[in-house]
Amino acid sequence: MCVLQKLLVTIDGPAGAGKTTVSKRLSDRLGYRYIDTGALYRGIAYEAKRRGVRHDDGEALGALCKSMDLRFVRNENGTRLLSGQNDITDQIRTPEMSMLASAVSATAIVRHYLLDVQRAMGREKGAVFEGRDMGTVVFPDADIKFFLDASPQTRAFRRYKELEGKTAQTLEDIERDIRQRDENDSTRDLAPLKPAHDAIRLDSTDFSIDDVVDLMLDYITGVQL
Ligand code: DC
Repeated sequence: MCVLQKLLVTIDGPAGAGKTTVSKRLSDRLGYRYIDTGALYRGIAYEAKRRGVRHDDGEALGALCKSMDLRFVRNENGTRLLSGQNDITDQIRTPEMSMLASAVSATAIVRHYLLDVQRAMGREKGAVFEGRDMGTVVFPDADIKFFLDASPQTRAFRRYKELEGKTAQTLEDIERDIRQRDENDSTRDLAPLKPAHDAIRLDSTDFSIDDVVDLMLDYITGVQL
């Protein structure tokens, strides 16, 4: 019997490129764990707001990180993010938390703290890690790296559909936020958003999620053989 080796797969890319849906489906098809690292930055942003910590106060952010206890758990509602005993999965998905997560993610103290957290989560293979710097900084030796992109208009439209009924934001508001986050995430000094030199670059503008997942599975099968 041929037992396929378990891999560490990374998927980086800008907001709204389809990373989350693709990563979830891919991990289901492979029987792998799925780790949404953006949720960890959002978790810190959420606690910073709740405890009145400013995103530009490095000392207070450091103290906040030391006291953080972020964990993913799987239950009947899917994968949930816990901060201590509180399930904060839904609270971290607001437009305000998106912008605040982008702001705290530019600080050295938060990136340093989450680097260790993410590497500890990746000690066991058989996982799909989704984020901005998975292939460049956190797991430079990942078995297979993807960089998933799409046009800003397509990404904004997808976010708009996702948030429909849950936000008062218009399509124009969402596109403006996405462009602003692209700018923040790709021009920051630390671990900016960019494809790893050995990443497979895919553009999902004209492809369905299932097409992208099938394409990724083809690449993964090639690595496993
Ligand atoms: O993937 P997301 O939209 O949930 O991420 C929220 C923010 O967190 C994003 O604007 C940038 C930051 N982030 C990061 O800097 N590095 C990661 N690996 C994941 C997210």
